[in-house]
Amino acid sequence: MKIIKVESYDQLSKTAAEMVIEKVRREPKTVLGLATGGTPVGLYKELVKDHQNGGTSYKEVSSFNLDEYVGLSGDDPNSYRYFMDEHLFNHVDISKENTHVPLGNTEDHQQHCQDYENLLKERGGVDLQILGIGPNGHIGFNEPGTSFQSETQVVELMDSTREANARFFNSIDEVPTHAISMGIATIMRSKEIILMVSGETKREALAQLLNGEVNENFPASILKNHPNVTVIADKDAVGE
Ligand code: GLP
Repeated sequence: MKIIKVESYDQLSKTAAEMVIEKVRREPKTVLGLATGGTPVGLYKELVKDHQNGGTSYKEVSSFNLDEYVGLSGDDPNSYRYFMDEHLFNHVDISKENTHVPLGNTEDHQQHCQDYENLLKERGGVDLQILGIGPNGHIGFNEPGTSFQSETQVVELMDSTREANARFFNSIDEVPTHAISMGIATIMRSKEIILMVSGETKREALAQLLNGEVNENFPASILKNHPNVTVIADKDAVGE
């Protein structure tokens, strides 16, 4: 893993954006793997700004998001589809049919997970995957204990994850109990990965990632076995 330490969240967003922009300009048909949550918001702002002022085009880009809450439809403001439309897709020239976010409200979640995994494989897999990390080391919504062999599946969210994400909802009771998430094996098949780590609440997770061993109880640890991972961490996450 390559580690880039930056001063601030702003720097973290800009550094990640430069890498994405460079990739898209070099390979216009890039398949991006995208993440939600608080961490990538600044990155998406930078991409929109660059699209508007610098002209980087996403016309031929396609994207696959990591995860979606079970039970929420894409027009629910708390769904990850809505998040992606609001923060990125509505503001760049990507065609919506090339953007893929798991559907949280299908009749058959298992079937949808398989279809999602198959579609991603058909499209040649993710070229550049953006990741955040949960305080417990989750990537996507793969909680501690998830098999490293896992593919896209329905997962149960830990209480601590629901609590961490309750800030986006009116109350914790509204936070779904389950999600659909790309699996660890799915994520590991990405050709290149950028892991963004920001803020004091991620300090322990970052230390565990850097110093701990590869173990299913700390999902992000598997990234150490990937040949092309860049971790970008801000000062608050790195600590003293
Ligand atoms: C969420 C998402 C992850 C995200 C992580 C951290 O639950 N499923 O994809 O990386 O938890 O979120 P945040 O960036 O808001 O801290």
